[in-house]
Amino acid sequence: MIEKKINTTYVIADFDEMSNNDQILINNAKRILDSAYSPYSGFSVGASVLLDNGKTIEGSNQENVAFPSGLCAERVALFYVGSEYPDSKIKTIAISALSHSFTIEDYISPCGACRQVMAEYEEKQNSKIRVLLHSPNGKVLISKSVEDLLPFVFKSPFLKKH
Ligand code: THU
Repeated sequence: MIEKKINTTYVIADFDEMSNNDQILINNAKRILDSAYSPYSGFSVGASVLLDNGKTIEGSNQENVAFPSGLCAERVALFYVGSEYPDSKIKTIAISALSHSFTIEDYISPCGACRQVMAEYEEKQNSKIRVLLHSPNGKVLISKSVEDLLPFVFKSPFLKKH
């Protein structure tokens, strides 16, 4: 039996320490919170994706009375990118959250399904996607790649035929 460890590296920064581009992306994610449709959870999430062509694409969570039919903000934005800009590379995704029903004190961490989707695009484009998690306390958690947020990711080679 062997015990193994996985190390993850991430950076915590103050919003004010972030580059101008990162601040814009985080502000985009905050702005798009207004369009969240979250009557069931009362929890709004905004995501802003920066592409290598300089464009940014935003998404917010969209809920449904049939709960599983709704979609997280990250996947709303990422699937739009995949549809409209299939040849562009994603450089960074910024995520922010707001709730009038709950106190959000820390970074909102993307759910497993959203991490899996981000990991797919990271593999597809063969370059890392930075992830910025914005906390209402003004701090930002920066991850250099999705892989760091999803160890043991399910990857396409698992589906390779022999
Ligand atoms: N949600 C997101 O949009 N992104 C996440 O990473 C976590 C959760 C949404 C889904 C649902 O509309 C609400 O937040 C509460 O789970």
